[in-house]
Amino acid sequence: MKILLLGSGELGKEFVISAQRIGQTVIAVDSYENAPAMQVAHGFEVINMLDGEALDRIVAKHQPDFIVPEIEAIRTERFYDYEKQGITVVPSAKAANFTMNRKAIRDLAAKELGLKTANYRYATTAEELTKAVAEVGMPCVVKPLMSSSGKGQSTIKTESDIEKAWQYAVDGSRGDVVEVIVEAFVKFNSEITLLTVTQNNNPTLFCAPIGHRQERGDYQESWQPALISDKDLYEAQDMAEKVTEALGGAGLFGVEFFLADDGVYFSELSPRPHDTGMVTLAGTQNFNEFELHLRAILSLPIFEITLEKVGASAVILASENSENPSFTGIEKIAALPKTDFRIFGKPTSRPYRRMGVALVNDSLETPIDIVVEKAKKAAAQITVHP
Ligand SMILES: Nc1ncnc2c1ncn2[C@@H]1O[C@H](COP(=O)(O)OP(=O)(O)OP(=O)(O)O)[C@@H](O)[C@H]1O
Ligand SMILES: [Mg+2]
Repeated sequence: MKILLLGSGELGKEFVISAQRIGQTVIAVDSYENAPAMQVAHGFEVINMLDGEALDRIVAKHQPDFIVPEIEAIRTERFYDYEKQGITVVPSAKAANFTMNRKAIRDLAAKELGLKTANYRYATTAEELTKAVAEVGMPCVVKPLMSSSGKGQSTIKTESDIEKAWQYAVDGSRGDVVEVIVEAFVKFNSEITLLTVTQNNNPTLFCAPIGHRQERGDYQESWQPALISDKDLYEAQDMAEKVTEALGGAGLFGVEFFLADDGVYFSELSPRPHDTGMVTLAGTQNFNEFELHLRAILSLPIFEITLEKVGASAVILASENSENPSFTGIEKIAALPKTDFRIFGKPTSRPYRRMGVALVNDSLETPIDIVVEKAKKAAAQITVHP
């Protein structure tokens, strides 16, 4: 099969490697040359994926069987047309299109499916935001409708924060939409990603829940399994099943939830492998999240997903801008027991850019906090130099 991969970061790279291993052909696309997934693909294209005409051009040129989005920032409206042309958009045009806009996915989840979410409103001006904040109450979180990785996102604690939050959201907005969502702040005890795999001719499967910690809108450590009561887990699985079914198609989704004293809140989801799911590269499961995504896409039956080990991942970040980053400490991390790592091969660095990840696993009886600490220490062995 020929796969057109839209987005060529570290997640795309692992997906391409999985596809290569079972003889598939992948063309990797991104906005810059030598992106991680391009380094392992059969071919590549450099375009602005928000440009619909550029997308049309490469789809016509390569005639792929599958279009696999790896990021949100794509002119996803075009996907409906590609589906009509007989190309499978993964997991579906609707899933990719709805999840790139917080309004579409939130209204589907909360209004249409009745899932429990933080109380929310929308605003298109600073005045509307003031009114919306009064309605949802403080503290609350403001996010541009179109953004990811925490961009343009801030918390309002007092009325004097509103103007600043509006401007920050407008500046952090992707594309042409100037609108924000304001959500009541959920005082959660923890947050999880529930990797959910929908299959074409087989039942939907769930991975063991993944716990994670976020800073500046990006995950720092993730671990599997996350601590969660059976009741909360079933509730999360039920919500994940409903929302993935409504979006349609086959593939792996990363469904994000907050676990609070008053129950489970649906937050958002990625219709593709999730960054916190990189913990599965530590060998926690019979198949990692990229292999699961690929199998589901190709309609290869997945009989079951089993948790083989406990594991944790911790990110390796750059601290400076560089056109030629280098790494030290590889021998040190390599010497650690039950530890592995990835260096993504990103050609340039900037402060806080994710450049690699440390991966640790251990037997199922091992307390998860010990594994997380090991992963953090392992990641700290590696230094990124400008
Ligand atoms: N309503 C909320 N209450 C409390 N914390 C929140 C709320 N919304 C978001 N957060 C925190 O901010 C993080 C990022 O939020 P969210 O996932 O909505 O943004 P994002 O930009 O889509 O991030 P990403 O693309 O990295 O998943 C969450 O994982 C959570 O830690
Ligand atoms: Mg998120």
